[in-house]
Amino acid sequence: MSNNPEQFFFPSARILGIETSCDETAAAVIENGSMVLSSVVASQIDLHAKYGGVFPEVASRQHILTIYSVIDQALQQAHLDLTNIDAIAVTRGPGLAGSLVVGMNAAKGLALASNLPLIGVNHLEGHIYSSWVSPDNQQVMTPKFPLLALLVSGGHTELNLMTYHLTYKRLGSTLDDAAGEAFDKVARLLGLPYPGGPSIQKAASGGNPTAFSFPRARLEGSWNFSFSGLKTAVLRVVRQFENENRPIPVEDMAASFQAAVVDVLLNKTIQAARAFHAREVLVAGGVSANKALREAFLGQKEFSVHIPPLSLCTDNAAMIGSAGYFRFIKGLVDPLDLDVMPNWPLS
Ligand code: KG4
Ligand code: ZN
Repeated sequence: MSNNPEQFFFPSARILGIETSCDETAAAVIENGSMVLSSVVASQIDLHAKYGGVFPEVASRQHILTIYSVIDQALQQAHLDLTNIDAIAVTRGPGLAGSLVVGMNAAKGLALASNLPLIGVNHLEGHIYSSWVSPDNQQVMTPKFPLLALLVSGGHTELNLMTYHLTYKRLGSTLDDAAGEAFDKVARLLGLPYPGGPSIQKAASGGNPTAFSFPRARLEGSWNFSFSGLKTAVLRVVRQFENENRPIPVEDMAASFQAAVVDVLLNKTIQAARAFHAREVLVAGGVSANKALREAFLGQKEFSVHIPPLSLCTDNAAMIGSAGYFRFIKGLVDPLDLDVMPNWPLS
């Protein structure tokens, strides 16, 4: 049973979700904002690994090559065709312009050909709605409002107060690097492979998180974050070991860096949840896959915390289908000349 009685009054609808904002080509069919009829993700990680990060032109070219077969697979796995779909939801932004356009054009073409409504979804809203998705199709404990949402991805780190569905107030965000970006840059400094987050996590598992006391930017009096000082502190230690011709203690440095990031994210989020009288906390975005971060949030007992299962932390289309559903049932559909918005803020 859902813990949210209002869920019962939500109308029934099936949404085809499409996501191409960065380096995953994804499509999914979601029923009633929560049930996963299919979810297909074609990752480009191997293609970009040799560049040490996402190469935008390579990403858009690869989206063009795979988008239609990914959509076909999603429909086939759901045993449906477009006549059984109520609307098409697509990531409109933020993201890489050339990548967003591929998903948007595919969505527009299908919407036009099959006379279905088109819904542009904010990628960050999608990440938030991954907590409404039930990957094993069990009843999901849906988050309760007001909700304090921490978004931590490769491009964004921000705190939002969510007072109801689709209603956000941004409290603060990073002043420099996003948390995921810091993971990616520090991994490069430590000679670890792309993507940096999982590499740092792996290295950290064999290290001592108190070996180095890296700085924590508390930015008291604001709900903002900053990770550039931490990144510079890691660089300074790397240089010191290099200058002394000593091997870099990669595992201890990874563990100490990760501990500093987790400490700042947890403390500021819980403080904000207290200050804004949130009922619950939600963590979303690629960095929410981090084991130490998950343990820290789930280990505190003051607030119940929603963190998506690992399969829904990084980019996927199930989350876009879910957010699209909550827009669709409010009548929030878009015209077919909708443009992508590479810098679209959530609020
Ligand atoms: O949400 P996402 O897939 O794409 C964006 O919207 O940016 O997030 C990707 C980010 C990358 O910076 C990646 O290094 C990070 O999420 N990430 C992690 C982990 N898995 C992915 N960071 C820390 N620990 C992880 N296990
Ligand atoms: Zn993302």
